[in-house]
Amino acid sequence: GAHVQVIAIDGPTASGKGTIAHRVAQQLGWHVLDSGALYRLTALACMQRNIPLDAVDQVADIASQLDVRFHELGVYLDGQDVGEAIRQEAVGNGASQVAALGPVRAALLERQRAFRQPQGLVADGRDMGTVVFPDAILKVFLVASAQARAERRYNQLIEKGFSANLLTLLHDLEARDARDMQRVNAPLFPADDALVLDSSDLSIDQTVAQVMAWYKGKLPRG
Ligand code: CDP
Ligand code: CDP
Repeated sequence: GAHVQVIAIDGPTASGKGTIAHRVAQQLGWHVLDSGALYRLTALACMQRNIPLDAVDQVADIASQLDVRFHELGVYLDGQDVGEAIRQEAVGNGASQVAALGPVRAALLERQRAFRQPQGLVADGRDMGTVVFPDAILKVFLVASAQARAERRYNQLIEKGFSANLLTLLHDLEARDARDMQRVNAPLFPADDALVLDSSDLSIDQTVAQVMAWYKGKLPRG
């Protein structure tokens, strides 16, 4: 229901949204929504079925019919664990393409809002504070320099055993930023009431501490 509190964490790729959202949710005992995963799953489902990512109606159908399950241990698409597969950069870039389509975003809207369950929800993405949960109690716009984000993504991919090239990542990330910010449908920008947090020189713990301090500051005193 709408009375359940939401913390929205939006920002560009690899700024640390997912990591911070999970830590904050853990501290509060709240649910998490990785909204980007829904766009990634839509892109992956299309790629598996050879549906072109710009075929609006077909892609929107796929988005509305996604058979997805989120578990502690993985993300399941049509019963298959795709937790690793959706993290590939090709799928992330595909996600950014399908995310530009209005009917695809509309198809995923209610599915995202359904994650709002007691005691609360920490939701990360691009439009959590602007479109999906405009009444979020706290809206954080998490940023970091392109160089810092490329290095983070590089380390993340290498750790998972994928191959990666820092310059390619930097180039792709800047292209993705541009596409996410310039699109007509739910472009990436901070909500009027968002607090901007630059984590370029912050550790994960420092970033989490700032979000928790802001959240506590929003609660009624006494
Ligand atoms: O992890 P990363 O920030 O790279 O991406 P993500 O959050 O998994 O999202 C993948 C793509 O989905 C982004 O580039 C966005 O274009 C799109 N997306 C979106 O449009 N709206 C959201 N709420 C979340 C993701
Ligand atoms: O969800 P998003 O794409 O915004 O980023 P992420 O996948 O949560 O974070 C990208 C990587 O940056 C992860 O490996 C984090 O551990 C790392 N990170 C970091 O090194 N320092 C921070 N202050 C935040 C995240």
